[in-house]
Amino acid sequence: MDINGASAIVTGAASGIGEAVARQLAAQGAHVVVADLQAEKGEALAQEIGGVFAQVDVTRTDQIEAAVRAASGLGPLRVLVNSAGIGWAQRTIGRDGEFDSAHDLAAFTKVIAINLIGTFDAIRLAATAMSTLEPTASGERGAIVNMASVAAFDGQIGQAAYSASKGGVVGMTLPVARDLSAAGIRLNTVAPGLIDTPIYGEGEGAEAFKAKLGESVLFPKRLGQPEELASMVLECIRNPYLNGETIRVDGGIRMPPK
Ligand code: NAI
Repeated sequence: MDINGASAIVTGAASGIGEAVARQLAAQGAHVVVADLQAEKGEALAQEIGGVFAQVDVTRTDQIEAAVRAASGLGPLRVLVNSAGIGWAQRTIGRDGEFDSAHDLAAFTKVIAINLIGTFDAIRLAATAMSTLEPTASGERGAIVNMASVAAFDGQIGQAAYSASKGGVVGMTLPVARDLSAAGIRLNTVAPGLIDTPIYGEGEGAEAFKAKLGESVLFPKRLGQPEELASMVLECIRNPYLNGETIRVDGGIRMPPK
């Protein structure tokens, strides 16, 4: 799909993979709404790429709606990329046999609320706006890309909440693509492996940790770059025959239990 002159919403665009996606979309001529919790970084990026920042917490339907309206004001909203997400690491039970030591249920709920329900809420609202557009010459009205994780398939010890949230994103990929097909909207999901973003922290310690992590990748033995993920997201948007699919971009890694 040609996105030149169209508008696009990228959630989680103030950092990491979402930021790289926002830059590549803008380079293709899209008007990008940088939708994120982080105002300072989001505003700076929006200014740099000629887009607009929208303060969005993806657990807030009203804020997603405002971002959809802002995007529709910039051009036909043809693209949504859901990159907002958080991690959480905790085992299902504690070591001392106490109920209080079991997995924090509020944390489990929060991870699902942001990574899974927030993704679906953005999809249903953006796709509603897309459905009202005139189709392009290829008959398409829009394209949506979600960010899952290889943890949807090979969740590690302590990843119950995160894997459940990303597994949910993978699970809804085909049914939602089917729902949106009548409107000419495609939906795909990208499942990143270990990607070098602020998610692993910053500084010397973080660099050493990331180098160690990189050794477990099949080939190349390093973390992925946000641009390598963004490139796949752009292909999902560009390629009119890609639909209802989840694509791992992970250097061939299969995560061990820990
Ligand atoms: P990041 O931490 O660099 O960026 C995530 C962005 O999401 C941040 O700007 C943050 O402010 C925003 N965000 C968090 N909660 C939000 C909320 N409630 N509403 C709106 N924005 C919110 O992380 P990264 O690495 O770029 O991750 C992007 C996506 O890719 C996430 O969904 C993550 O789970 C997924 N992913 C990342 C991997 C990695 O190794 N970096 C591996 C697999 C998946």
